[in-house]
Amino acid sequence: MAAAVTAAVSFPSSKSSTLPTRTSLICPERVTLKKVYREASAGGRVVSVRAQVTTTEAAPPAKAVKHSKKQEEGVVVNKFKPKNPYVGRVLLNTKITADDAPGETWHMVFSTDGEMPYREGQSIGVIPDGIDPKNGKPHKLRLYSIASSALGDFGDSKTVSISLFPPNFSLSSLGVISSIQVSLCVKRLVYTNDAGETVKGVCSNFLCDLKPGSEVTMTGPVGKEMLMPKDPNATVVMLATGTGIAPFRSFLWKMFFEKHEDYKFEGLAWLFLGVPTSSSLLYKEEFEKMKEKAPDNFRLDFAVSREQTNEKGEKMYIQTRMAQYAEELWELLKKDNTYVYMCGLKGMEKGIDDIMVSLAAKDGIDWLDYKKQLKKAEQWNVEVY
Ligand SMILES: Cc1cc2nc3c(=O)[nH]c(=O)nc-3n(C[C@H](O)[C@H](O)[C@H](O)COP(=O)(O)OP(=O)(O)OC[C@H]3O[C@@H](n4cnc5c(N)ncnc54)[C@H](O)[C@@H]3O)c2cc1C
Ligand SMILES: NC(=O)c1ccc[n+]([C@@H]2O[C@H](COP(=O)([O-])OP(=O)(O)OC[C@H]3O[C@@H](n4cnc5c(N)ncnc54)[C@H](OP(=O)(O)O)[C@@H]3O)[C@@H](O)[C@H]2O)c1
Repeated sequence: MAAAVTAAVSFPSSKSSTLPTRTSLICPERVTLKKVYREASAGGRVVSVRAQVTTTEAAPPAKAVKHSKKQEEGVVVNKFKPKNPYVGRVLLNTKITADDAPGETWHMVFSTDGEMPYREGQSIGVIPDGIDPKNGKPHKLRLYSIASSALGDFGDSKTVSISLFPPNFSLSSLGVISSIQVSLCVKRLVYTNDAGETVKGVCSNFLCDLKPGSEVTMTGPVGKEMLMPKDPNATVVMLATGTGIAPFRSFLWKMFFEKHEDYKFEGLAWLFLGVPTSSSLLYKEEFEKMKEKAPDNFRLDFAVSREQTNEKGEKMYIQTRMAQYAEELWELLKKDNTYVYMCGLKGMEKGIDDIMVSLAAKDGIDWLDYKKQLKKAEQWNVEVY
Protein backbone atom coordinates (compact mmCIF):
# COMPACT_ATOMS: atom_id res chain seq x y z
CA MET A 1 0.00 0.00 0.00
CA ALA A 2 1.03 3.55 -0.47
CA ALA A 3 3.19 4.77 2.39
CA ALA A 4 2.29 7.87 4.38
CA VAL A 5 4.35 10.92 3.53
CA THR A 6 7.10 11.50 6.06
CA ALA A 7 9.43 14.42 6.14
CA ALA A 8 12.36 15.81 8.02
CA VAL A 9 11.46 18.75 10.23
CA SER A 10 14.21 21.01 11.57
CA PHE A 11 13.58 22.55 14.96
CA PRO A 12 15.25 25.79 15.96
CA SER A 13 18.54 24.97 17.65
CA SER A 14 18.56 24.97 21.43
CA LYS A 15 21.45 23.77 23.55
CA SER A 16 19.30 21.76 25.91
CA SER A 17 16.80 20.42 23.37
CA THR A 18 16.50 16.68 23.48
CA LEU A 19 13.94 16.39 20.69
CA PRO A 20 14.72 14.27 17.68
CA THR A 21 15.32 16.27 14.54
CA ARG A 22 13.07 14.11 12.33
CA THR A 23 9.37 13.74 12.69
CA SER A 24 6.40 13.17 10.47
CA LEU A 25 4.27 15.69 8.61
CA ILE A 26 1.28 13.83 9.95
CA CYS A 27 1.61 15.51 13.39
CA PRO A 28 2.64 19.06 12.69
CA GLU A 29 1.60 20.53 16.11
CA ARG A 30 3.96 22.97 17.72
CA VAL A 31 5.99 21.61 20.59
CA THR A 32 5.65 23.65 23.79
CA LEU A 33 7.66 23.86 27.04
CA LYS A 34 7.30 20.58 28.84
CA LYS A 35 8.96 18.75 31.69
CA VAL A 36 9.19 15.06 31.09
CA TYR A 37 9.62 12.68 34.03
CA ARG A 38 10.53 9.13 33.29
CA GLU A 39 11.35 6.20 35.50
CA ALA A 40 14.63 4.40 34.90
CA SER A 41 16.48 1.55 36.51
CA ALA A 42 19.91 2.29 38.08
CA GLY A 43 21.88 -0.31 40.03
CA GLY A 44 18.76 -2.33 40.78
CA ARG A 45 16.91 0.74 42.14
CA VAL A 46 14.17 2.58 40.37
CA VAL A 47 15.00 6.28 40.23
CA SER A 48 13.20 9.18 38.79
CA VAL A 49 14.99 10.87 35.92
CA ARG A 50 13.97 14.37 34.87
CA ALA A 51 14.50 15.52 31.35
CA GLN A 52 13.64 18.98 30.17
CA VAL A 53 12.45 19.84 26.70
CA THR A 54 13.13 23.51 26.19
CA THR A 55 11.59 24.29 22.85
CA THR A 56 10.00 27.66 23.54
CA GLU A 57 6.69 29.20 22.51
CA ALA A 58 8.55 32.09 20.96
CA ALA A 59 10.37 29.87 18.48
CA PRO A 60 9.28 30.21 14.85
CA PRO A 61 7.19 27.35 13.48
CA ALA A 62 9.16 24.32 12.41
CA LYS A 63 9.79 24.31 8.68
CA ALA A 64 8.97 21.01 7.04
CA VAL A 65 11.41 19.83 4.39
CA LYS A 66 9.44 17.56 2.12
CA HIS A 67 11.36 14.75 0.50
CA SER A 68 9.56 14.23 -2.76
CA LYS A 69 9.47 10.86 -4.48
CA LYS A 70 9.46 12.71 -7.79
CA GLN A 71 12.42 14.13 -9.70
CA GLU A 72 11.94 17.47 -8.01
CA GLU A 73 15.44 18.55 -6.91
CA GLY A 74 16.54 21.70 -8.66
CA VAL A 75 13.29 22.12 -10.58
CA VAL A 76 12.89 25.69 -11.79
CA VAL A 77 9.49 27.35 -11.67
CA ASN A 78 8.43 30.70 -13.17
CA LYS A 79 11.81 31.86 -14.42
CA PHE A 80 9.92 33.87 -17.05
CA LYS A 81 6.75 35.74 -16.13
CA PRO A 82 4.35 37.71 -18.36
CA LYS A 83 6.22 40.94 -17.53
CA ASN A 84 9.62 39.49 -18.49
CA PRO A 85 8.84 36.69 -20.96
CA TYR A 86 11.31 34.72 -23.04
CA VAL A 87 11.14 35.16 -26.79
CA GLY A 88 12.13 32.04 -28.69
CA ARG A 89 12.00 31.12 -32.34
CA VAL A 90 10.04 28.43 -34.14
CA LEU A 91 12.38 25.77 -35.50
CA LEU A 92 9.73 23.48 -36.84
CA ASN A 93 5.95 23.11 -36.90
CA THR A 94 4.31 20.03 -38.34
CA LYS A 95 0.77 18.61 -38.41
CA ILE A 96 0.79 15.15 -36.84
CA THR A 97 -2.81 14.09 -37.46
CA ALA A 98 -3.95 12.80 -40.85
CA ASP A 99 -6.03 14.99 -43.16
CA ASP A 100 -9.20 12.99 -42.45
CA ALA A 101 -8.84 13.25 -38.65
CA PRO A 102 -11.51 15.19 -36.73
CA GLY A 103 -9.44 18.27 -35.91
CA GLU A 104 -5.76 19.08 -36.33
CA THR A 105 -2.95 18.52 -33.87
CA TRP A 106 0.49 20.05 -34.45
CA HIS A 107 3.92 19.28 -33.06
CA MET A 108 6.14 22.34 -32.79
CA VAL A 109 9.71 22.93 -31.65
CA PHE A 110 10.97 26.28 -30.32
CA SER A 111 14.56 27.32 -29.71
CA THR A 112 15.34 28.35 -26.15
CA ASP A 113 19.16 28.61 -26.18
CA GLY A 114 19.10 26.72 -22.92
CA GLU A 115 17.32 29.63 -21.20
CA MET A 116 14.14 27.71 -20.34
CA PRO A 117 15.41 25.04 -17.91
CA TYR A 118 12.40 22.75 -17.81
CA ARG A 119 11.96 19.21 -16.54
CA GLU A 120 9.85 16.38 -18.02
CA GLY A 121 6.22 16.91 -16.92
CA GLN A 122 6.30 20.71 -16.71
CA SER A 123 4.37 23.20 -18.83
CA ILE A 124 5.12 26.56 -20.40
CA GLY A 125 2.91 29.57 -20.98
CA VAL A 126 2.50 31.09 -24.43
CA ILE A 127 1.39 34.70 -24.97
CA PRO A 128 -0.10 34.88 -28.46
CA ASP A 129 0.68 37.96 -30.54
CA GLY A 130 -2.05 40.57 -30.82
CA ILE A 131 -4.62 42.37 -28.76
CA ASP A 132 -7.71 40.94 -27.10
CA PRO A 133 -10.60 42.86 -28.71
CA LYS A 134 -12.67 42.34 -25.55
CA ASN A 135 -10.46 44.62 -23.43
CA GLY A 136 -7.92 46.20 -25.78
CA LYS A 137 -5.06 44.59 -23.85
CA PRO A 138 -2.50 42.03 -25.01
CA HIS A 139 -3.82 38.47 -24.96
CA LYS A 140 -3.38 36.53 -21.74
CA LEU A 141 -1.14 33.50 -21.65
CA ARG A 142 -2.32 29.93 -22.20
CA LEU A 143 -0.55 26.94 -20.68
CA TYR A 144 0.80 24.02 -22.73
CA SER A 145 2.34 20.79 -21.44
CA ILE A 146 5.86 20.31 -22.71
CA ALA A 147 6.09 17.38 -25.12
CA SER A 148 9.89 17.06 -25.32
CA SER A 149 12.26 15.64 -22.73
CA ALA A 150 14.51 18.10 -20.88
CA LEU A 151 17.13 17.55 -23.59
CA GLY A 152 14.77 18.74 -26.31
CA ASP A 153 13.89 16.87 -29.49
CA PHE A 154 17.40 17.40 -30.85
CA GLY A 155 19.35 16.74 -27.66
CA ASP A 156 22.79 15.14 -27.73
CA SER A 157 22.20 11.75 -26.20
CA LYS A 158 19.34 10.52 -28.36
CA THR A 159 19.56 6.93 -29.50
CA VAL A 160 17.07 7.14 -32.38
CA SER A 161 16.28 9.29 -35.36
CA ILE A 162 12.93 11.02 -35.21
CA SER A 163 10.29 9.91 -37.66
CA LEU A 164 8.30 13.13 -37.24
CA PHE A 165 10.94 15.23 -38.94
CA PRO A 166 12.26 15.17 -42.52
CA PRO A 167 15.13 12.64 -42.98
CA ASN A 168 17.88 15.21 -43.49
CA PHE A 169 16.58 17.64 -40.93
CA SER A 170 19.23 19.24 -38.72
CA LEU A 171 19.37 22.32 -36.57
CA SER A 172 22.29 23.71 -38.57
CA SER A 173 20.10 23.64 -41.69
CA LEU A 174 18.02 26.26 -39.85
CA GLY A 175 21.05 28.32 -38.91
CA VAL A 176 20.94 27.11 -35.31
CA ILE A 177 24.33 25.99 -33.98
CA SER A 178 23.41 24.50 -30.66
CA SER A 179 20.30 24.98 -28.62
CA ILE A 180 18.11 23.18 -26.18
CA GLN A 181 14.58 23.30 -27.45
CA VAL A 182 11.08 22.99 -26.10
CA SER A 183 8.37 21.15 -28.03
CA LEU A 184 4.59 21.34 -27.75
CA CYS A 185 1.70 19.23 -28.98
CA VAL A 186 -1.22 21.55 -29.72
CA LYS A 187 -4.78 20.87 -30.87
CA ARG A 188 -6.24 23.62 -33.06
CA LEU A 189 -9.44 24.70 -31.32
CA VAL A 190 -12.29 25.41 -33.73
CA TYR A 191 -15.91 25.19 -32.64
CA THR A 192 -19.36 26.44 -33.55
CA ASN A 193 -20.99 28.78 -31.03
CA ASP A 194 -24.66 29.03 -30.09
CA ALA A 195 -25.24 31.57 -32.87
CA GLY A 196 -23.93 29.04 -35.42
CA GLU A 197 -20.69 30.95 -36.02
CA THR A 198 -17.32 29.24 -36.39
CA VAL A 199 -14.99 30.37 -33.59
CA LYS A 200 -11.24 29.82 -33.61
CA GLY A 201 -9.35 29.56 -30.30
CA VAL A 202 -6.87 32.43 -30.05
CA CYS A 203 -3.67 30.80 -28.87
CA SER A 204 -4.01 27.33 -30.36
CA ASN A 205 -4.63 28.80 -33.83
CA PHE A 206 -1.77 31.27 -33.34
CA LEU A 207 0.54 28.36 -32.50
CA CYS A 208 -0.61 25.95 -35.20
CA ASP A 209 -0.17 28.68 -37.84
CA LEU A 210 3.39 29.63 -36.79
CA LYS A 211 6.04 29.35 -39.50
CA PRO A 212 9.68 28.40 -38.86
CA GLY A 213 11.68 31.48 -37.96
CA SER A 214 8.82 33.37 -36.32
CA GLU A 215 9.08 34.55 -32.74
CA VAL A 216 7.06 33.10 -29.90
CA THR A 217 6.64 34.68 -26.46
CA MET A 218 6.86 32.21 -23.58
CA THR A 219 6.61 32.12 -19.79
CA GLY A 220 7.47 29.46 -17.23
CA PRO A 221 8.37 26.73 -16.84
CA VAL A 222 5.59 25.81 -14.40
CA GLY A 223 4.18 22.79 -12.57
CA LYS A 224 5.43 20.05 -10.29
CA GLU A 225 2.42 17.70 -10.27
CA MET A 226 3.51 15.76 -13.33
CA LEU A 227 7.21 15.30 -12.56
CA MET A 228 8.50 11.75 -13.08
CA PRO A 229 9.17 9.44 -10.14
CA LYS A 230 12.80 9.19 -9.03
CA ASP A 231 12.68 5.40 -8.73
CA PRO A 232 14.04 3.95 -12.00
CA ASN A 233 12.34 0.63 -11.16
CA ALA A 234 8.89 2.15 -10.68
CA THR A 235 5.74 1.15 -12.52
CA VAL A 236 4.53 4.28 -14.29
CA VAL A 237 0.95 4.13 -15.57
CA MET A 238 0.21 7.01 -17.97
CA LEU A 239 -3.37 7.87 -18.91
CA ALA A 240 -3.77 10.36 -21.75
CA THR A 241 -6.60 11.69 -23.88
CA GLY A 242 -5.65 13.58 -27.05
CA THR A 243 -2.97 16.22 -26.52
CA GLY A 244 -2.78 15.04 -22.91
CA ILE A 245 -0.11 12.77 -24.39
CA ALA A 246 2.42 15.66 -24.27
CA PRO A 247 3.99 15.04 -20.83
CA PHE A 248 4.12 11.30 -21.48
CA ARG A 249 6.01 11.69 -24.73
CA SER A 250 8.48 13.64 -22.65
CA PHE A 251 8.69 10.88 -19.96
CA LEU A 252 9.00 8.13 -22.55
CA TRP A 253 11.78 9.81 -24.47
CA LYS A 254 13.79 10.07 -21.28
CA MET A 255 13.03 6.45 -20.43
CA PHE A 256 13.65 4.83 -23.80
CA PHE A 257 15.37 7.12 -26.30
CA GLU A 258 18.08 8.71 -24.19
CA LYS A 259 21.17 7.75 -22.23
CA HIS A 260 21.68 9.38 -18.86
CA GLU A 261 24.53 8.79 -16.43
CA ASP A 262 22.24 9.06 -13.43
CA TYR A 263 19.03 7.49 -14.75
CA LYS A 264 18.30 4.20 -16.48
CA PHE A 265 14.67 3.18 -16.51
CA GLU A 266 14.23 -0.50 -15.65
CA GLY A 267 10.67 -0.51 -14.39
CA LEU A 268 7.40 -0.79 -16.31
CA ALA A 269 5.94 2.11 -18.29
CA TRP A 270 2.33 1.49 -19.33
CA LEU A 271 0.69 4.04 -21.62
CA PHE A 272 -3.06 4.25 -22.30
CA LEU A 273 -3.88 6.78 -25.03
CA GLY A 274 -7.43 7.72 -25.99
CA VAL A 275 -8.13 9.44 -29.32
CA PRO A 276 -11.24 9.72 -31.55
CA THR A 277 -9.96 7.95 -34.70
CA SER A 278 -6.92 5.99 -35.80
CA SER A 279 -6.05 8.95 -38.03
CA SER A 280 -5.65 11.04 -34.89
CA LEU A 281 -3.29 8.69 -33.02
CA LEU A 282 -0.43 10.84 -31.79
CA TYR A 283 3.27 9.81 -31.98
CA LYS A 284 2.23 6.21 -32.75
CA GLU A 285 5.45 5.38 -34.63
CA GLU A 286 7.65 6.68 -31.85
CA PHE A 287 5.80 4.59 -29.29
CA GLU A 288 5.99 1.50 -31.46
CA LYS A 289 9.73 2.03 -31.78
CA MET A 290 10.00 2.22 -28.00
CA LYS A 291 8.14 -1.04 -27.73
CA GLU A 292 10.59 -2.69 -30.10
CA LYS A 293 13.52 -1.34 -28.08
CA ALA A 294 12.18 -2.29 -24.66
CA PRO A 295 9.45 -4.92 -24.99
CA ASP A 296 9.72 -5.92 -21.32
CA ASN A 297 9.58 -2.37 -19.99
CA PHE A 298 6.89 -0.73 -22.13
CA ARG A 299 3.22 -1.52 -22.64
CA LEU A 300 1.05 0.43 -25.03
CA ASP A 301 -2.76 0.44 -25.28
CA PHE A 302 -4.87 2.66 -27.50
CA ALA A 303 -8.56 3.47 -27.07
CA VAL A 304 -9.97 4.71 -30.38
CA SER A 305 -13.36 6.01 -29.33
CA ARG A 306 -15.10 6.38 -32.69
CA GLU A 307 -13.86 3.11 -34.18
CA GLN A 308 -13.65 0.61 -31.34
CA THR A 309 -16.14 -0.75 -28.84
CA ASN A 310 -15.94 -3.23 -25.99
CA GLU A 311 -17.74 -6.57 -25.95
CA LYS A 312 -20.93 -4.83 -24.75
CA GLY A 313 -20.78 -2.49 -27.75
CA GLU A 314 -19.83 0.52 -25.60
CA LYS A 315 -17.64 3.32 -26.96
CA MET A 316 -13.95 2.64 -26.36
CA TYR A 317 -12.85 5.38 -24.00
CA ILE A 318 -9.59 5.15 -22.11
CA GLN A 319 -11.40 3.88 -19.01
CA THR A 320 -13.16 1.22 -21.12
CA ARG A 321 -9.74 -0.04 -22.27
CA MET A 322 -8.40 0.07 -18.71
CA ALA A 323 -11.37 -1.98 -17.53
CA GLN A 324 -10.09 -4.84 -19.70
CA TYR A 325 -7.02 -5.01 -17.43
CA ALA A 326 -8.93 -4.23 -14.25
CA GLU A 327 -7.46 -6.90 -11.96
CA GLU A 328 -3.92 -6.33 -13.15
CA LEU A 329 -4.18 -2.57 -12.70
CA TRP A 330 -5.68 -2.94 -9.24
CA GLU A 331 -2.83 -5.26 -8.16
CA LEU A 332 -0.33 -2.69 -9.45
CA LEU A 333 -2.08 0.05 -7.51
CA LYS A 334 -1.48 -1.83 -4.27
CA LYS A 335 2.27 -1.52 -4.75
CA ASP A 336 4.33 1.26 -3.17
CA ASN A 337 6.23 1.95 -6.34
CA THR A 338 3.34 2.32 -8.78
CA TYR A 339 2.75 5.89 -9.96
CA VAL A 340 -0.30 6.90 -11.98
CA TYR A 341 -0.36 10.05 -14.11
CA MET A 342 -3.45 11.38 -15.88
CA CYS A 343 -3.51 14.17 -18.45
CA GLY A 344 -6.01 15.50 -20.94
CA LEU A 345 -9.76 16.03 -20.92
CA LYS A 346 -11.34 16.80 -17.57
CA GLY A 347 -14.11 14.24 -18.15
CA MET A 348 -11.68 11.32 -18.11
CA GLU A 349 -11.05 11.67 -14.37
CA LYS A 350 -14.62 10.75 -13.43
CA GLY A 351 -14.68 7.89 -15.93
CA ILE A 352 -11.52 6.44 -14.41
CA ASP A 353 -12.80 6.92 -10.86
CA ASP A 354 -15.93 4.99 -11.80
CA ILE A 355 -14.01 1.87 -12.77
CA MET A 356 -11.71 2.15 -9.75
CA VAL A 357 -14.66 2.36 -7.33
CA SER A 358 -15.88 -1.10 -8.27
CA LEU A 359 -12.40 -2.61 -8.28
CA ALA A 360 -11.54 -1.30 -4.83
CA ALA A 361 -14.96 -2.31 -3.49
CA LYS A 362 -14.17 -5.97 -4.27
CA ASP A 363 -11.44 -5.72 -1.64
CA GLY A 364 -13.72 -3.79 0.72
CA ILE A 365 -11.80 -0.57 0.06
CA ASP A 366 -13.36 2.85 -0.42
CA TRP A 367 -11.76 4.17 -3.62
CA LEU A 368 -12.00 7.85 -2.77
CA ASP A 369 -10.22 7.30 0.56
CA TYR A 370 -7.62 5.14 -1.12
CA LYS A 371 -7.09 7.73 -3.85
CA LYS A 372 -6.48 10.38 -1.18
CA GLN A 373 -3.70 8.24 0.28
CA LEU A 374 -2.22 7.63 -3.14
CA LYS A 375 -2.27 11.37 -3.83
CA LYS A 376 -0.57 12.11 -0.51
CA ALA A 377 2.12 9.59 -1.40
CA GLU A 378 2.51 11.28 -4.83
CA GLN A 379 1.35 8.11 -6.56
CA TRP A 380 -1.81 9.58 -8.15
CA ASN A 381 -1.04 12.64 -10.24
CA VAL A 382 -3.66 14.48 -12.25
CA GLU A 383 -3.49 17.38 -14.67
CA VAL A 384 -6.70 17.62 -16.66
CA TYR A 385 -8.32 20.61 -18.27
C1 LIG B 1 -1.80 22.86 -17.48
C2 LIG B 1 -2.41 22.91 -18.89
C3 LIG B 1 -1.75 22.27 -19.92
C4 LIG B 1 -2.30 22.31 -21.20
N1 LIG B 1 -1.63 21.66 -22.19
C5 LIG B 1 -2.13 21.65 -23.42
C6 LIG B 1 -1.44 20.95 -24.46
O1 LIG B 1 -0.38 20.33 -24.25
N2 LIG B 1 -1.97 21.00 -25.71
C7 LIG B 1 -3.14 21.65 -25.97
O2 LIG B 1 -3.56 21.66 -27.14
N3 LIG B 1 -3.81 22.31 -25.00
C8 LIG B 1 -3.32 22.34 -23.75
N4 LIG B 1 -3.97 23.03 -22.76
C9 LIG B 1 -5.13 23.88 -23.13
C10 LIG B 1 -4.62 25.29 -23.59
O3 LIG B 1 -4.10 25.99 -22.47
C11 LIG B 1 -5.71 26.17 -24.19
O4 LIG B 1 -6.78 26.25 -23.29
C12 LIG B 1 -6.23 25.66 -25.53
O5 LIG B 1 -5.19 25.63 -26.49
C13 LIG B 1 -7.32 26.61 -26.05
O6 LIG B 1 -6.80 27.91 -26.09
P1 LIG B 1 -7.20 28.94 -27.25
O7 LIG B 1 -6.53 30.24 -26.93
O8 LIG B 1 -6.98 28.37 -28.58
O9 LIG B 1 -8.74 29.09 -27.04
P2 LIG B 1 -9.50 30.37 -26.42
O10 LIG B 1 -9.52 31.48 -27.37
O11 LIG B 1 -8.93 30.62 -25.07
O12 LIG B 1 -10.94 29.77 -26.32
C14 LIG B 1 -11.23 28.80 -25.37
C15 LIG B 1 -12.63 29.03 -24.90
O13 LIG B 1 -13.52 28.74 -25.96
C16 LIG B 1 -14.70 28.18 -25.44
N5 LIG B 1 -14.91 26.88 -26.08
C17 LIG B 1 -13.99 25.93 -26.32
N6 LIG B 1 -14.54 24.88 -26.93
C18 LIG B 1 -15.84 25.17 -27.06
C19 LIG B 1 -16.94 24.47 -27.60
N7 LIG B 1 -16.78 23.26 -28.14
N8 LIG B 1 -18.14 25.06 -27.55
C20 LIG B 1 -18.30 26.29 -27.02
N9 LIG B 1 -17.30 27.00 -26.49
C21 LIG B 1 -16.08 26.43 -26.51
C22 LIG B 1 -14.53 28.04 -23.96
O14 LIG B 1 -15.11 29.17 -23.36
C23 LIG B 1 -13.04 28.10 -23.77
O15 LIG B 1 -12.65 28.63 -22.53
C24 LIG B 1 -3.49 22.99 -21.45
C25 LIG B 1 -4.14 23.62 -20.41
C26 LIG B 1 -3.62 23.59 -19.15
C27 LIG B 1 -4.35 24.28 -18.03
N1 LIG C 1 -1.79 19.38 -18.62
C1 LIG C 1 -3.06 19.50 -18.97
O1 LIG C 1 -3.92 19.82 -18.19
C2 LIG C 1 -3.40 19.24 -20.39
C3 LIG C 1 -2.40 18.91 -21.31
C4 LIG C 1 -2.78 18.65 -22.61
C5 LIG C 1 -4.11 18.74 -22.99
N2 LIG C 1 -5.01 19.09 -22.08
C6 LIG C 1 -6.44 19.18 -22.43
O2 LIG C 1 -6.82 17.89 -22.87
C7 LIG C 1 -7.84 17.99 -23.82
C8 LIG C 1 -7.45 17.09 -24.98
O3 LIG C 1 -8.32 17.31 -26.02
P1 LIG C 1 -7.99 16.96 -27.51
O4 LIG C 1 -8.91 17.82 -28.32
O5 LIG C 1 -6.54 16.97 -27.75
O6 LIG C 1 -8.47 15.44 -27.54
P2 LIG C 1 -9.20 14.63 -28.68
O7 LIG C 1 -8.32 14.50 -29.85
O8 LIG C 1 -10.58 15.15 -28.87
O9 LIG C 1 -9.27 13.22 -27.94
C9 LIG C 1 -9.95 13.08 -26.75
C10 LIG C 1 -10.43 11.65 -26.64
O10 LIG C 1 -11.04 11.47 -25.37
C11 LIG C 1 -12.37 10.99 -25.57
N3 LIG C 1 -13.26 11.43 -24.50
C12 LIG C 1 -14.27 12.34 -24.54
N4 LIG C 1 -14.89 12.39 -23.35
C13 LIG C 1 -14.27 11.50 -22.55
C14 LIG C 1 -14.47 11.08 -21.21
N5 LIG C 1 -15.44 11.59 -20.44
N6 LIG C 1 -13.67 10.13 -20.70
C15 LIG C 1 -12.69 9.58 -21.44
N7 LIG C 1 -12.46 9.92 -22.72
C16 LIG C 1 -13.23 10.87 -23.27
C17 LIG C 1 -12.77 11.51 -26.93
O11 LIG C 1 -13.82 10.72 -27.46
P3 LIG C 1 -15.02 11.30 -28.38
O12 LIG C 1 -14.59 12.64 -28.90
O13 LIG C 1 -15.20 10.28 -29.44
O14 LIG C 1 -16.20 11.39 -27.46
C18 LIG C 1 -11.47 11.31 -27.68
O15 LIG C 1 -11.32 9.97 -28.05
C19 LIG C 1 -7.99 19.45 -24.18
O16 LIG C 1 -9.12 19.92 -23.49
C20 LIG C 1 -6.74 20.10 -23.60
O17 LIG C 1 -6.98 21.39 -23.16
C21 LIG C 1 -4.71 19.31 -20.79
